[in-house]
Amino acid sequence: MNDRFLRACSGEAVAPVPVWLMRQAGRYLPAYQEVRGKTSFLALCKTPELAARVTIQPVDILGVDAAILFSDILIPLEAMGVGLEFHEGRGPVLDPPVRSRRDVEALRPIDPQSDVPFVLDTIRILRRELAGRVPLIGFSGAPFTLATYLIEGGTSRSFVHVKRLMFEAPGLFHRLMGLLAEVATAYLQAQIRAGVQAVQLFDTWAGILARRDYEEFAFPYTERILAGLAGLGVPRISFVFGGGHLLDLIGTGSADVIGLDWRTDLSTAVARLGVGKVFQGNLDPCALFLPESALRERIKTIVKEGRRARAHIFNLGHGVLPEIPPEKARLVVDLVHEVSA
Ligand code: CP3
Repeated sequence: MNDRFLRACSGEAVAPVPVWLMRQAGRYLPAYQEVRGKTSFLALCKTPELAARVTIQPVDILGVDAAILFSDILIPLEAMGVGLEFHEGRGPVLDPPVRSRRDVEALRPIDPQSDVPFVLDTIRILRRELAGRVPLIGFSGAPFTLATYLIEGGTSRSFVHVKRLMFEAPGLFHRLMGLLAEVATAYLQAQIRAGVQAVQLFDTWAGILARRDYEEFAFPYTERILAGLAGLGVPRISFVFGGGHLLDLIGTGSADVIGLDWRTDLSTAVARLGVGKVFQGNLDPCALFLPESALRERIKTIVKEGRRARAHIFNLGHGVLPEIPPEKARLVVDLVHEVSA
């Protein structure tokens, strides 16, 4: 049983350093494309046998030290009563967008057992099929990122709707955030009961907030979720994309592992938060376009900086890009293991 990842999560400095890649399952893998060619993305997420199959693909192909459940952070939003579609090239569309008190009141909390049984079934299949080969990570979107998709109705550039609601109707915004924290907590508790061995909160858009607004409007809800998972015996990873300016606040929180993107050096993070923390990250996904020798140097640097922390889990600073040849992703995993052995 490869438990390198879980040991690092609990604060043990592990050699070789464990590695997995955000979005390690997906379009850059021909094996994924083959499955995806026969079904829509949403149908794939909702068919446990297929979701389990594409979850395991990167474990076989890349040799990563953890599997991450194949699903999407937006799946529970559909169960809350919002229409969800994924459009080729345009990304997700949530309809109707949530912009008024009536819209917020129309949302409902979820019962994971009856609303998203396919997620829990996928987890059960995966624990059986992985058979201890590598641990399984579950995940949820963090409340601010989920609110962003709900309020903008999809991906955004300016985030004017979400910030407008936050500033014009702070009470309503807090109410929505409270509901999303409740949903994410129930969702992750159910994933843990079904068998996931670690959880990650993805806060892709909280980095657009000023520190004071993150502190008031977003951070307390992430903390509420983490508190609701404390004592379940499963490490909790918090990843705020573009959260360098929020790091000291995040460091006061209760996440077991802090995820970093490439804009904050690991050594800077250690200097700011102290040597007692566990970090995950943080190679720029575009660094996979570098020639092998330069890629190896970058990986060496990150591994070296990670040694200053209590423990380090290697990852990219964001998801694998669809343009990346699978051999290059495999090379990253091999190089991490090699230079940290
Ligand atoms: O990491 C993994 O391998 C597990 C699966 C996973 C997916 N999405 C699969 C996916 C995870 C953990 C996510 C999280 C997710 N989803 C986030 C947070 C992480 C991040 O990337 O910032 C966000 C913001 C989303 C929302 C989302 N899902 C968008 C904006 C899109 C469209 C853009 C795109 O990359 O296609 C998706 C679709 C999506 N989610 C795909 C996959 C494999 C592509 C679907 C396809 O066409 O096959």
